[in-house]
Amino acid sequence: MKIADIEKMKEGQKVELKGWIYRQRASKNVAFIVLRDSTGIIQIVYGKEVGNKIFEKASTILIESSIKIKGIIKKDARAPSGFEIEGTDFEIINKAERFPITKDQSTEFLLNMRHLWIRSQKLTNVFKIKDTLFYAARDYLRKDGWYETQSPMITACAGEGGSTLFKMDYFGHKAYLAQTGQLYSEALIFALEKVYCFAPSFRAEKSKTRKHLTEYWHLEPEGAWITHEQNMKIQEGLISYICQTVAKKYPKELLALGRDPKDLLLVKPPFKRITYEEAIKQLQKRGSKIKYGEDFGVAEEKLLMKGEKAPMFVERWPAEMKAFYMKRDPKDKKIVLCDDLFAPEGYGEIIGASERETDNSILIKMLKKEGANLDDYKWYLELRKFGSVPHSGFGVGMERVLSWICKLDHIRDAIPFPRLTNRFYP
Ligand code: 4AD
Ligand code: MG
Repeated sequence: MKIADIEKMKEGQKVELKGWIYRQRASKNVAFIVLRDSTGIIQIVYGKEVGNKIFEKASTILIESSIKIKGIIKKDARAPSGFEIEGTDFEIINKAERFPITKDQSTEFLLNMRHLWIRSQKLTNVFKIKDTLFYAARDYLRKDGWYETQSPMITACAGEGGSTLFKMDYFGHKAYLAQTGQLYSEALIFALEKVYCFAPSFRAEKSKTRKHLTEYWHLEPEGAWITHEQNMKIQEGLISYICQTVAKKYPKELLALGRDPKDLLLVKPPFKRITYEEAIKQLQKRGSKIKYGEDFGVAEEKLLMKGEKAPMFVERWPAEMKAFYMKRDPKDKKIVLCDDLFAPEGYGEIIGASERETDNSILIKMLKKEGANLDDYKWYLELRKFGSVPHSGFGVGMERVLSWICKLDHIRDAIPFPRLTNRFYP
């Protein structure tokens, strides 16, 4: 039996529960235990009549001890579930030491205590929502005919440029942790047509921001025959499906995190689209000093999304700002057929996407410009020689999406054990 099951039960029924002590206080004649399990919390009240031995245990036990209890359901208008439990038995499974986490601890302390802090109500809510986020994404793609495949996490190819690569020694050879699964998915589309890789990506980010992890979960669909236009349709379809699913499944948890589920129900296609050029003009009009050819900083992302309730596409960026594999616009060779999807409220870029370049001479020129070793990309360039087709894909930063959905102050709370520039413990 779980705590959430009690809502469906009646006063006077007997219950047995297992869990952890969330709160505890006692006076001479009564002991209050708030019990926590994965489904919720409930108060159990022990009076003297329960007998000295049990009363003593319930009045002296420390929080986070694991226990098994028996009791009888009582109506209580003040309780969140409408019920509390009159305790009749109390068995200690593990008597906790004094819990190191008390009120008003510093962020650093809580990060060092992450293995214990993940029990908090806030993080519990976030990780329940994340489970549905992952589920909804897979559900959407499966229904739309995509195959989940795997790309290696150890690779010789950069993908997203040299500046954020984690280098490693691979038995005497230089290798990297994957920044993306995309290049390998591009090989898989010639068999399966619509594939996606859902795995961690690694970025040696030098910048300390609220939205950068060094290890994050990356969902990357890649599809044969898909154009830049169709690619954006898939992205908005996927993101709105995720928002609708989460809003319907976890309204209470979202509200507890400060997110009105109605905000998410409003996220429906089509999303607004502007070009990079239009975005720059818009930003300048709103007072930014940004110039054409410059990337958006945190301030620009916020300014650009001011007043927007749903994510917005910024498409068609200058080729020189973007990755080597993006397709040149046949009508304007300085532009690539790509899009970034920005979340509202300053949560920043949640998707990076493009149609892929199929012309090897352009790919080789771009790779050389990046200083890449062409031998490492021989296999990739061969894909353009054996039945190449127009194709597109995108990458969703799942913790970015979750941060926005859950209104988190910092992306570190979107993953149980965050990896940050200055942290890989615990
Ligand atoms: O824009 P990015 O670098 O694009 C790619 O990696 C492409 N290969 C994707 C593709 O087309 N298959 O990264 C994609 C997304 C970003 O939009 C962002 O949401 C997220 O990944 N992301 C990060 N999330 C957390 N921490 C970081 N350091 C991130 N870097 C990128
Ligand atoms: Mg990007």
